[in-house]
Amino acid sequence: MLTLTVNGRERRFDGDPSMPLLWYLRDVLGLTGTKYGCGVAVCGACTVHVDGEAARACMTAMADVAGRAVVTIEGLSAEGTHPVQVAWREVNAPQCGYCQSGQIMQAAALLASTPRPTDAQVDDAMSGVLCRCGTYQRIRAAIALAAGGAR
Ligand code: FES
Ligand code: FES
Repeated sequence: MLTLTVNGRERRFDGDPSMPLLWYLRDVLGLTGTKYGCGVAVCGACTVHVDGEAARACMTAMADVAGRAVVTIEGLSAEGTHPVQVAWREVNAPQCGYCQSGQIMQAAALLASTPRPTDAQVDDAMSGVLCRCGTYQRIRAAIALAAGGAR
């Protein structure tokens, strides 16, 4: 048995410790905002925070999050008022939306560690989260807005 917190709430897990965190979030807890894309840590759709850092839930085993704090898109803010979420709405970033929770979680982790990222830092942080719809320009604008800069 292991314990962790998910969106601030303590959870106990008795299952297979090799189970991917993504399965636990979606299938056990019903937190379906975190998406399944590639399953092999190359698309970023499943990005969540583990102890405040962006992590790919598809390749993170439950054993790896024992005693740690996981935050999903549902837990980023109670009312959707996190600065990244506000900026995302302001620039209308999503198209189909499938990749966007991963994009937002990756961007939120970036700005938590680097409040005023350079273009290169944004590119570096966001390059691992793919968008089939090609919303990259609006995502960059939203990150700049959330960081307090111009669009
Ligand atoms: S589903 Fe995890 S990185 Fe693609
Ligand atoms: S908005 Fe459709 S995949 Fe990114």
